[in-house]
Amino acid sequence: MTILDGKKLAAKIRKNVKEEIHTLQGEGITPGLAVILVGDDPASRTYVNMKERACEEANIYSIVHKMPTSISQDKILEILDMMNKNDYIDGILVQLPLPPHIDTNKIIEAIDHNKDVDGFHPFNVGRLVAGLDSYVSCTPLGVMKILEEYKIDPKGLNICIVGASNIVGKPMLNLLLNANATVDICHVYTKDLKSHTKKADVVIVGVGKAGLITEDMIKDDAIVIDIGINRTENGKLVGDVDFENVAKKCSYITPVPGGVGPMTIAMLLTNTLKAAKNRIAKKEQLK
Ligand code: GUN
Repeated sequence: MTILDGKKLAAKIRKNVKEEIHTLQGEGITPGLAVILVGDDPASRTYVNMKERACEEANIYSIVHKMPTSISQDKILEILDMMNKNDYIDGILVQLPLPPHIDTNKIIEAIDHNKDVDGFHPFNVGRLVAGLDSYVSCTPLGVMKILEEYKIDPKGLNICIVGASNIVGKPMLNLLLNANATVDICHVYTKDLKSHTKKADVVIVGVGKAGLITEDMIKDDAIVIDIGINRTENGKLVGDVDFENVAKKCSYITPVPGGVGPMTIAMLLTNTLKAAKNRIAKKEQLK
C-alpha cells in the first residue's frame, strides 16, 4: 500500500509557482487575488486565512474583503464589479457558503469568468464539460494532479465518485471523463452505495461523513481518494474513509490530513498564476 502524499506534492507545486512568480516580478508583473468573505463562519474564516497566507508566501498580492452577514446582495455585486475592473486583480474568489438571503448563483455569475480562479462560473463549467481549457475547481483539479504525480492513468479505469456537489463531485466527473475513465457518480439518493464502490478500481469520496467508506465496500487493491474533512468528538481531523481498515486492503490511499486538502490551496495559487499569465498574453495580443 502506498500513501498518496498530497502535502509533499502541494509543497513542490507551491515552490514552482513561487519561482514562476519571481520571474514575472522581474518583468514588473505581480499576480493578484481578491477574496470575499461574508459572515463569520469559523471554517470559512480558517480557509480564507490559509489562502491569504499561501498568497503571501508565493508573493501573490492578495486582498480580503470581510463583510458582515447582514450585507446586501447589491453591495457584494458592487464590490465584484470593482474587482472585475481592477487591473491589479487577476483572480476573484467568493468564499462559500454565503448567507441564505444571498443568491449564490447570481454572485458567481457576476464574477468575470477570466478571473474565476475557483472555476465555478457557468462559462468555465461549460468549457470543462466540452473538454476545453478552463479554470477548474481547485479540489478536483488537485486530485487529478495527485493521480498524475503517482502515474495513475484514469484511462479505462472504473471510477466511483461519492458526492455530486458543484464544487467537487461534478467537476471531478468531467475531469475523469475527459481523461477517458468510466465514471459512476453516487449521492444521497443512491440506493445501494456499496454495490457501486465495490466494483470500482478507484473510489473518490467527499461528502463530509466520517467512516462512510469501510473496508467491505472496496475491492482488493483499489485506489482510495478521500476528500472528506471531519472533526471527531475529541477534535481529531478525519476524512470520510475508515482509514485504518481500508488502508490494509487498497493499493494507494490519501491520508487525512495531508492528502487532498493541501492540494486545494496549491491549485488556487496555480489558477491565479494562470489568470495572470492569460491577462499578460491578452495584453500582448492587443499591442
Ligand atoms: N467553500 C468550500 N470549498 C470552497 C472552495 O473551493 N472555494 C470557495 N470559494 N468556497 C468554498
